[in-house]
Amino acid sequence: MKEWIVIALAMMMPFVSCLKYGGSDIKVTHLRCEYLENPLGIDVLRPRLNWILESSRRGQKQTAYRILVASSLQNLKKELGDLWDTGRVESDRSTQIVYNGQELSSRMNCYWKGCVWDEEGVRSDYSPHASWTMGLLSDEDWQGSWIRMDRALPTDKPEDLAPGPPPPWFRKQFTLDKPVKKAHVYVTALGLFELSINGERIGKDVFAPEWTDYNRRIQYRTYDVTEQLLRGANGIGVVIGDGWYSGYVGWRKQRGNYGLRNSLLLNLEIEYDDGEKFLVATDDTWRCSEGPIISSDLLMGEHYDARKEMQGWDSAEFDDKGWKQVAIMERPSARLVAQPSEPIRVTETITPVGMTNPEKDVYVFDLGQNISGWARLAVTGKTGDRVTLRFAERLNPDGTIYTENLRDARATDVYVLKGGGEESFEPRFTFHGFQYVEVTGFRGIPAPDAITGCVVHSTTPPAGTFECSHPMVNKLFANLTWGQRGNYLSIPTDCPQRDERLGWMGDAQIFVRTGTFNMDVAAFFTKWMQDVEDAQSKAGAFPDFAPRLNDKNLMGFEAAPAWGDAGIIIPWTIYRVYGDNRIISRHWDAMTHWMDFLREANPNLIRRKKVNNNYGDWLSIKADTPKDLLATAYWAHDARLMSRMAEVIGRKDDVGRYDTLFRNIRTAFQKAFVLSDGRVKGETQTGYLLALAMDLLPQELRDQAAGHLVEDIKARDWHISTGFVGCGFINPVLTRMGHHDMAYRLLFNDTFPSWGYSIMHGATTIWERWDGWTADKGFQDPGMNSFNHYAFGAVGEWLYRFVAGIDLDSEEAAYRKIRIRPFPGVDLKYARAEYQSIHGKIVSGWKREGKEMTMDITIPPNTTATVFVPFSDVSKITEGGRSVEEAEAVQFLRVDDNCAVFDVGSGTYVFTFPVSD
Ligand code: BGC
Repeated sequence: MKEWIVIALAMMMPFVSCLKYGGSDIKVTHLRCEYLENPLGIDVLRPRLNWILESSRRGQKQTAYRILVASSLQNLKKELGDLWDTGRVESDRSTQIVYNGQELSSRMNCYWKGCVWDEEGVRSDYSPHASWTMGLLSDEDWQGSWIRMDRALPTDKPEDLAPGPPPPWFRKQFTLDKPVKKAHVYVTALGLFELSINGERIGKDVFAPEWTDYNRRIQYRTYDVTEQLLRGANGIGVVIGDGWYSGYVGWRKQRGNYGLRNSLLLNLEIEYDDGEKFLVATDDTWRCSEGPIISSDLLMGEHYDARKEMQGWDSAEFDDKGWKQVAIMERPSARLVAQPSEPIRVTETITPVGMTNPEKDVYVFDLGQNISGWARLAVTGKTGDRVTLRFAERLNPDGTIYTENLRDARATDVYVLKGGGEESFEPRFTFHGFQYVEVTGFRGIPAPDAITGCVVHSTTPPAGTFECSHPMVNKLFANLTWGQRGNYLSIPTDCPQRDERLGWMGDAQIFVRTGTFNMDVAAFFTKWMQDVEDAQSKAGAFPDFAPRLNDKNLMGFEAAPAWGDAGIIIPWTIYRVYGDNRIISRHWDAMTHWMDFLREANPNLIRRKKVNNNYGDWLSIKADTPKDLLATAYWAHDARLMSRMAEVIGRKDDVGRYDTLFRNIRTAFQKAFVLSDGRVKGETQTGYLLALAMDLLPQELRDQAAGHLVEDIKARDWHISTGFVGCGFINPVLTRMGHHDMAYRLLFNDTFPSWGYSIMHGATTIWERWDGWTADKGFQDPGMNSFNHYAFGAVGEWLYRFVAGIDLDSEEAAYRKIRIRPFPGVDLKYARAEYQSIHGKIVSGWKREGKEMTMDITIPPNTTATVFVPFSDVSKITEGGRSVEEAEAVQFLRVDDNCAVFDVGSGTYVFTFPVSD
């Protein structure tokens, strides 16, 4: 009998182990390749794969994984990873897994899925499948030619900022005589393209292929157009706007920064059902014409004459006899690359909150929110009626729009009606930074819905939210998030409204950590760091803004302290937040070149030479931080980050080399700028902040220096005085140094200068200057007064990290290990942040109720957290109603700085404890 049972059990074993498979509650979700969901047309030969795990259990972990990558969906369904089958890999890594299968080549479709083994060795189900396709990897893959329209053009230095010529429209008719299985179109332009096939616009991207230094790199995009093609006759059409390539960019009143002739390269690759291939590529059989867009420019606006519309121009039937033959142009020498980042799109539309009529026949719509984008106009009128839209961020006291701060950006859209019914207009190749839209030329009084605001920016996926019991702080958070939305547009710009809109490096590095909390910016900065490297000078100087403009007069705009240093800080931050060590290795040579450049110029280790424009602590308020101090601090910081990055990518010699450099610069810094009582030369808030944040003081002077910082804040009646450079450090440093009451005081302040002051006066974004507008003086310095610059919004980092308490572990990157340490402010009842990290959703919230405080925490599977409960008597802390000893996956570690510190596994926790007095 016994034997029989043994035999029966043995026979059941395969089923038992089968049951184990798929028996875990762990789910593999959010599959992404190179940070993107199902990307079409990538050119990374070893793409990195990421997934997120979900589980309802505490302490859940991945112990192994298996990834299958197949060349067809059928194979994948059969669990045949013909491109890559990792087999079972004993590993707890679920991010940045480098593809290591069959060599990838142009156009390949790769379908993939994965499963994992959980903490108990039980296998999950396979994830739903995801895919990526390879783009065109070499120049030879591109058939056909670059085409353009042959015509006389205005110069790049037009008088009186004259508009450019009408954008060229291109078209081609072709016939498909068999059913189509698959069609991909690869398209790029010098200029901005909008593509349509058989009357249908392809994709939702705007301003493609976006901004790069077109002399070095031109991005292309790939679309699946199988559904848009017809058996029989087809029409394809593309219109090319000026954009960054040939339009106005920056403040130098100049068009054509990279070239003047907009041109197009397109490959439409079709595969018939029977496997035969058919190609439609740009060549001399394409035809071109000018059309209804009279002019269109990113800064100046768009002028559209609907009477000139060419009905059906992008369909087969259109009669293009009146169109011209295109000209073939020489291939640019720049590399063609797939766009690695999310495209720009319209992400939201906004209905105005009101309309006023400040002057006869002038109507002003208020969106209630300062945005980047444009207005959609709904209008009825007679043929030839001309409606003009002008855009502004603020109003003058008389209710008219304030446009002085736009400088030379005209930001004016003109629509000429065709007449005969309701018409709708949205520009294609311009954007404005605005809250108000002035409408003139409208027949009668515009209806309240005559204007709709269209919000436009890079579609970096939203990642974080923050909320607390203080409405003004919530408004500040909303404003800084809008600042990011308004300015992360292809590149991190300084502002979206005036004649500037450049990728200023200082602004970018000051805000980047906040940026990572608000949105997933891994792909966005992957792309932009390439722009930064492309813009590095031969001598090794990182630029002050990237991409560079092709203008000899701007060559000196490089190496500014806190600006150029973004070339080190951005890769470091992207590594820390996303565990991306490839961004370090890819830019390592550029970064060492920069470090050598600084070192050669400054042998005495004080950074005074080769700093060209030293903007100092830009836009500080009556506080001049010595520029050499600021520069040297950043250099030391660079050296320390280089040492840590060298460690990440295994460059052992460089770890020590840069650490020594850091220490030597620190010694030089102390000699030059630090007094024995902890005072730092210049005695400004930013001086103290840099010295403390960048660890440049002797240990024994840190508290004294923090004391001097507090004294300065007090002497200014508890106000901030920093400019861009200090603003991101002030609250984190105050909190770290034990003065978090002071950090909260600055946060809640609503008198000038403060974050709150702008909010009390109607701000819906972050202002460029603390004194952009003041009650006693009105608008300040129209020469430089944007109301949508994100730098001062760098306080967002502190809201997430210190108010809500979600932070990275000091050693481990990518939130594999999470630090939860809120610093509850006495004047707040609650605060809470949610953050979608690369490992999944993290939540940290705290709430005071009567004499109790609770902390709500969620830690994603496959990660752990060190949780600081701000109460030191462990016996009085409960979790989920039980004592902490009984709580599952919670381990008490120690008492530290009046907090009980726990190690917790994944899951959701509620800690409760008495409120300290
Ligand atoms: C920009 C800034 C930028 C600065 C350089 C300004 O015009 O708008 O944000 O960083 O120039 O100091």
